[in-house]
Amino acid sequence: MAISGNPTGDGWSSRSAFILAAIGAAVGLGNLWRFPTLAGENGGGAFVIVYIGCVVLLGLPLLLAEIFIGRAGQTDAVGSIRKVAQVSRVSHAWALFGGLGALAAFLIVSFYSVVAGWVLYYVGVFAGDFAQALAAGDPFRGALQGETQEQIAGRMSDLFDSPWLLLSMHLVFMGATLFIVARGISGGIEKAATWLMPAFFALLISITIYGAVVGDVGEAAAFLFTPDWSKLDARVMNEALGQALFSLSLGVAGIITYGSYIREGTRLGPTTFAIGLADTAVALVAGLMIFPIVFAVGLDPAAGPTLVFQTLPFAFEAMPAGALVGLLFFVLVLVAAITSSISLLEVPTAWAIGELGWSRRRAALTFGAGAFAIGVACLLGYNVWSDVRPLGFWSIFAETDILDTIDGFTGKIMLPLGALCTSLFVGWRADRRLTEQTTGLSRPMFMLWRFLLAWLCPLAVAAILLFGLFPKLL
Ligand code: PFF
Repeated sequence: MAISGNPTGDGWSSRSAFILAAIGAAVGLGNLWRFPTLAGENGGGAFVIVYIGCVVLLGLPLLLAEIFIGRAGQTDAVGSIRKVAQVSRVSHAWALFGGLGALAAFLIVSFYSVVAGWVLYYVGVFAGDFAQALAAGDPFRGALQGETQEQIAGRMSDLFDSPWLLLSMHLVFMGATLFIVARGISGGIEKAATWLMPAFFALLISITIYGAVVGDVGEAAAFLFTPDWSKLDARVMNEALGQALFSLSLGVAGIITYGSYIREGTRLGPTTFAIGLADTAVALVAGLMIFPIVFAVGLDPAAGPTLVFQTLPFAFEAMPAGALVGLLFFVLVLVAAITSSISLLEVPTAWAIGELGWSRRRAALTFGAGAFAIGVACLLGYNVWSDVRPLGFWSIFAETDILDTIDGFTGKIMLPLGALCTSLFVGWRADRRLTEQTTGLSRPMFMLWRFLLAWLCPLAVAAILLFGLFPKLL
């Protein structure tokens, strides 16, 4: 039953290093940008409650299943699944879903880096503004003084109209991601996580306290936690489920890959719980950080994807110390984004190291450059190629630009497919003794986990997949 160690010889130096890195992977633009956007658009409370239900009943079991595959396989996602299949005496063809995951992670990091580039641009805007405030001897003034709401919103259009600006931001962000991944696990990814995650939490807590002091936290909490069940329909449930998978980094083999670097003797149950709890707490706190500020200025919580980039900067204009807090806010989002993008690039990188025998440098450079190129196509989709609809023949993608097509294709199809395969493979095919031994769960917890994984996850995830493909069914 024993399975050999990770062939790269690299790995996390401790259990807490793994937890920190996995939290870094999970906490990203999904928590700080997508979650508040979706909660805002879908009426708050009902969405949030369904989301939490999805995390507990589906997310946690799937998270443990991915960590299990990585821990048991001790190599890249494809190799790990193959090893578990071998021990379990089932077809090696299951390893294909590891490849699918690696492809999905590669595609996601290409547009993830473009969006993170927007964040980087706003870091620049707010850094410049704060520098001016300092120079004027008024460091605690609001942000972007004297600009109208249209002018502030216009900063986003200026960015989108400029391929060069978008490209430079994307280049810097992808370059940083590549640099960290090329340095390996203990010397690169772990180091980044141990420096950046404490900074992330310190910023998150500070800005949330700020929001509570200057904003309307009561209204925000009521908005986020009072369920209006009339808003709840199949589409909202579908969104909540998809968001839970994305936020926990499931279905793209990222957690399998990170799990493969865990050293012997780590208790996987509490580890899974810690990661799931932290990710969900950050999403909720992000809501409690953003909405009090939005409500304090009487703005619309349902602004959609521009909530963070247009609504919030305008709110910072009216807030005390808005220039400083705005800067800190975008630094916070940037930190969250980079600890996630490195985990995405690590998936295809580990695959090429494990399956093709490439050096880490070569693998990281190849996939980093490839994802950069796809990202360039995404950002050109906002200006030069704004008419291009890559999957325009398919009704669900008929109206979507290049970035949204890749986002939609990965999120609605590849990610649920990966999660479906994971639940079927671990829930039905993986050797029971191996799963029991590797996870180290108590009997009742093991039974509960297997039940949720084998029955609830496949059904619910198949539903996301079906509705993603055929929205008319809803
Ligand atoms: N979980 C990340 C987020 O919420 O932003 C996105 C992500 C990262 C998805 C890594 C998948 C992954 F492997």
